[in-house]
Amino acid sequence: MIFKDDYRLLVAHDAESALRMAEEEMIDAAILDIRMEGMNGVELLSRLKKIDPGIEVVMLTAYETIDTIRQALRFGACDYLNKPFDIGQIRAAVANAMERRALHLAIRSNNHRLGELQEELQNQKLQEEIIRTRGDIYASVIHDINGPLTIISGFIQIINRRIGDTQQVEGESLDLVKDRLTRITRQVTNCIDISRRYLSFLRQEPGERSQVGINQILSDLSELLKVHPSVKNNRLSIQELPEDLTVEINGTDLIQILLNLTINALQATGEPHEVEIDGAFLREPVDIAPLNDGPNDRVINRDEFRNCNHLLELSVRDSGPGIPEETMARLFVPYFTTKAEGQGTGLGLTIVKRLIVEAGGMVHLRSEVGSGTRFTIYLPAWLRQ
Ligand SMILES: Nc1ncnc2c1ncn2[C@@H]1O[C@H](COP(=O)(O)OP(=O)(O)O)[C@@H](O)[C@H]1O
Ligand SMILES: [Mg+2]
Repeated sequence: MIFKDDYRLLVAHDAESALRMAEEEMIDAAILDIRMEGMNGVELLSRLKKIDPGIEVVMLTAYETIDTIRQALRFGACDYLNKPFDIGQIRAAVANAMERRALHLAIRSNNHRLGELQEELQNQKLQEEIIRTRGDIYASVIHDINGPLTIISGFIQIINRRIGDTQQVEGESLDLVKDRLTRITRQVTNCIDISRRYLSFLRQEPGERSQVGINQILSDLSELLKVHPSVKNNRLSIQELPEDLTVEINGTDLIQILLNLTINALQATGEPHEVEIDGAFLREPVDIAPLNDGPNDRVINRDEFRNCNHLLELSVRDSGPGIPEETMARLFVPYFTTKAEGQGTGLGLTIVKRLIVEAGGMVHLRSEVGSGTRFTIYLPAWLRQ
């Protein structure tokens, strides 16, 4: 009667029907007698809190001991009223409970929003990092194309001079012109190949699979790393595969994976050390049973990996200090880095993980403190015709 004009009221005559109501409807606040037939008010209170910890509960007490009241408060009741109470008291108690409830809901929705926002931000950062590395790759394409173009323009100048000086092109001049024209054609073909290769990567949707020649990628990788500052005094060796393979992954994605792993390996220590990249074609599925996370091992995407009987296995190995056990578990966590401020973003391995998962591949990392680290990636691949 007191509240019928203010709130939507549900009246339950015992604890069981109150619980049923709470399962079906969202309850903001409950007013409970402590003493009831069957289940008592304190137990009902704790059951209601299990259904929704945010339900605010006001207890009505008559002759209960202070202990029972304490217990109710401990279970999360927000208030209690001693019978008999007047209308003003219960109005104030319920108004207070509703206010707490509103606050609770606001906090819950803000927390949820915050979580979403953090996730969005994380994705955004990752996307930016991927784009930035793509930018690096295209910068090097422009550099690669510039080489042949410089040669071409040089030859064109020579030919122009020769032809300008003579009335007729014959004998030695003719041979020279022919020779230079052949070279120009070769360089032009070179430019077209380079740009076509990278433009086809560029046109792909992220994650779209294409067929990339592994030895071409390895030679591009070696070009990209030639001038990289982290090579310094380290010995970097990149072995071509004896059998060239077509790998089912976006070309720039594969370069990004290899660049991240190789640069990490080069940066594993400031002391001169060795980094070696080599690979093989596997004609049967990998035995994944012994591959488990452990103090020396991490396995990424083991269960979703398209483990078939035609695979590329590619390892990036370094003779650096190895990775201690406590670092091992956090390697693939976004922004985890042990490098100095400004040196590492902590996103490299997160990107590797994302790209490998997208391509249906697997990563196995084995590291031993004192002897070094090996990252092995597996991707579906075919022998190149
Ligand atoms: N080959 C390696 N040897 C030793 N530690 C490594 C190696 N590769 C990665 N790590 C560790 O993993 C961390 C995370 O790597 P990464 O995600 O690429 O971020 P970043 O290189 O920016 O720190 C590195 O800071 C380093 O501690
Ligand atoms: Mg890195």
